[in-house]
Amino acid sequence: MPEQASISAVDEITQIYTERATSRYGLEDINQLQHALQSAALAETNGEAPALILAALLHDVGHMIHKLGENPAEEGVDDRHEILGAKWLAKRLPAALAEPVRMHVEAKRYLCATEPGYMDKLAPDSVLTLKLQGGPMSESETAAFIAKDYADEAIRLRRYDEEAKDPAMETPPLEHFLRYLPAAAISNKERETFRRDGVVVLRGFFSEAEAATFNRLSSEMGASADLLLREAIYSGKPVAELLATRPDELIVVPEAADPLQICRFEYLLGSRPEFKNLIDTRIAPVIEALTGEAFIPFKDKENEKHPGGGAFGPHQDFAAYKSFGPRYNVTAMISVDPATRENGCLEFAKDWAGFPDNHADAVEERIDGRALLRFENGGPHNGDIAPEIADALDWQTVETAPSDLVIFDSFAPHRSSPNESNTSRRAMFLTFNAEREGDWYERYYAEKRANFDDPKFHVSTPTVHAGD
Ligand SMILES: [Fe+2]
Ligand SMILES: [Fe+2]
Ligand SMILES: [Fe+2]
Repeated sequence: MPEQASISAVDEITQIYTERATSRYGLEDINQLQHALQSAALAETNGEAPALILAALLHDVGHMIHKLGENPAEEGVDDRHEILGAKWLAKRLPAALAEPVRMHVEAKRYLCATEPGYMDKLAPDSVLTLKLQGGPMSESETAAFIAKDYADEAIRLRRYDEEAKDPAMETPPLEHFLRYLPAAAISNKERETFRRDGVVVLRGFFSEAEAATFNRLSSEMGASADLLLREAIYSGKPVAELLATRPDELIVVPEAADPLQICRFEYLLGSRPEFKNLIDTRIAPVIEALTGEAFIPFKDKENEKHPGGGAFGPHQDFAAYKSFGPRYNVTAMISVDPATRENGCLEFAKDWAGFPDNHADAVEERIDGRALLRFENGGPHNGDIAPEIADALDWQTVETAPSDLVIFDSFAPHRSSPNESNTSRRAMFLTFNAEREGDWYERYYAEKRANFDDPKFHVSTPTVHAGD
């Protein structure tokens, strides 16, 4: 399963560009921040992908992290800022972002060699640095350059760089462009793996501050869920009856064995507007980058996995969602508490994409080419993958920290063991559907509130709980 380095780079980049980018950009009448924003704005206006928009924004980050003073070129020193910057970026972000940055100086030398009149258009500081950087490329150098990966991107970046020196140009602020980071942080390899197996683990995706926000939201929601369960006990009214009359509040499901213990609660986004910003800026862009289209919230929940319980049988989420409109869903799993082997973290079928082709008798149905495996209908394991099929899959345990984000689709087989530790463990599951399949969120919850006991809402749920 693919894993990826941290992109809490947001904080680092913000700090660098707010604290160190106010110095003059070379010999121009603008500062480094303006130059960065103008480059990014030009890339955006020209319809570039998130990675290149950010490469344009960050192409001169090397100037800001070296210690050679404000304009070393005036002193006859080439600061090799493209190498420094690319190294810095490569530690944090994929090659589609770092490589065009590494090549943006070579791209200038390439353009000067191959495009008549290009050199005349260069700003004075670019002419000065061109000499230090080796002048226009030779014929053999241009041939070698253009054959490299990302040469085209580097050349386009260079053209934005050249134009981004206009003291009068208005641009969006830094935050506007930083919103592209989650999508730009997905590499082609991760995209391919997700499209093949339906699951990707993004390690260190959330900053400490973001992980703390999820923790706080979880505690606040847990407290209101708790209150509702108490109210049900003391008023003698069933939980379902209370829920039916409170359309703006969390839907709470207690454990069967203990009506005061929360099994899960749902309607997170509906009851807490703070989720909207986190979803819009951090999660939806990642799903869009993985799938290639816009996704919107379908349903959401937090599971409380208590000691001794909370196991999920092997299943594909499609079986649980198929009574509703969308044919394909994608879920973002956030570990509010660390999920470990001991407390029953998620397990996914490893490299399972070829399995349905080699086991035709295991396939119940194909939905837009994706295989739904045979599953149990009714009974205590309603919705679970048939045991003989589950046994034939290769299961992989995925331990996760609060900074990790797991994205999986509604066909990825998954399961989890009971919590064998002595503390409860919380996890949020935010599920989305393609925007083109319509907005289901409020419809789903209006129906769930009205018909809470309808079996279609209780497919592949963990251990028995009240209401099932
Ligand atoms: Fe540069
Ligand atoms: Fe530049
Ligand atoms: Fe599931």
